[in-house]
Amino acid sequence: MANYLITGGAGFIGSHLAHALVERGDSVRVLDNFETGLEKNLAPIRDRIDLRRADLIDAAAVLSACEGMDYVLHQGALPSVPRSVKQPRPSHETNIDGTFNVLEGARQAGVKRVVYAASSSAYGNQPGFPRVETMAPQPLSPYAVQKLTGELYMQAYWRVYGLETVCLRYFNIFGARQVPDSPYSGVMARFILMMMRGERPTIFGDGEQGRDFTHIENVVSANLLAVHATATLAAGRVFNIACGQRHTLNETFGLLATLLGFEHPPIYGPEREGDVRDSLADISAASQALGYVPQVGFEEGLRRTVRWYRDEFAGQKEE
Ligand code: UD1
Repeated sequence: MANYLITGGAGFIGSHLAHALVERGDSVRVLDNFETGLEKNLAPIRDRIDLRRADLIDAAAVLSACEGMDYVLHQGALPSVPRSVKQPRPSHETNIDGTFNVLEGARQAGVKRVVYAASSSAYGNQPGFPRVETMAPQPLSPYAVQKLTGELYMQAYWRVYGLETVCLRYFNIFGARQVPDSPYSGVMARFILMMMRGERPTIFGDGEQGRDFTHIENVVSANLLAVHATATLAAGRVFNIACGQRHTLNETFGLLATLLGFEHPPIYGPEREGDVRDSLADISAASQALGYVPQVGFEEGLRRTVRWYRDEFAGQKEE
């Protein structure tokens, strides 16, 4: 049994990690400001975790949260490319200053390892698929720059202070508990809820942009592997976490429409500013160094996710 701090532990990804760790008997502390996280995500394990409400930019609260911890899973962030384009400052502060505070807190508290939620947006629109970690980053949006800066900080703390850090570049994660009804919601959650309500989703652009959509179970397993991987193989390194398959939005819309019995076409709108055109990961580095193997494929992930939203939003109109 070990002590874990999960930043952003009330959010979509953080809460899945919290549940997994509590279930296997580890001790979990969650730090969340509940700006995008939800108390209900932790309700079933609320009495078995140490829940702290604080902002990542509160350095003292972050240091105090790190004290006594073996591992930090740093998931807390203000996500969304379009949010960062519209309002870069809040996401800059949370994603860069907040990450710096986590590293400083972890260093001062003597934490053994920090696992960081990095983003596939670091690759931008450069040529060459699949994306390999050795490619030079070309971030397009403020969000991509912020998440990449976090990676550079993680690597510097390993090199300079010997704090073990592992960066996991997540590729478009989806699954249960992803917020579906914010203007900044990820596409999968947004489309599922709209289609359940009988509303036609809007595809930005021609719908032929592709993503390496990755079910949340895969991210949970990647984090647990990253915590325990041998330092000589994992520390100071960056790993793609994905399925290694590209699916277009048109294809994804079609599969969701079949699963949900939705019979209308999507609406097509203008391309989104700062959008990456295509995304596809090479996952061999994570496989070799961490032993990472995707646990849940795309279509099975879609089925599980649709099932969860149906249960969660039961009673909402379906066409
Ligand atoms: C990006 C990152 C991802 C990161 C996420 C955090 C890339 C390739 N991926 O995701 O690693 O975790 O930010 O927020 O950079 N779309 C529509 N209609 C909608 C909503 C979205 O067509 O209503 C389109 C977008 O234009 C985009 C795709 O769906 O082409 C995916 O968008 P979204 O779910 O917001 O994620 P990314 O920006 O790709």
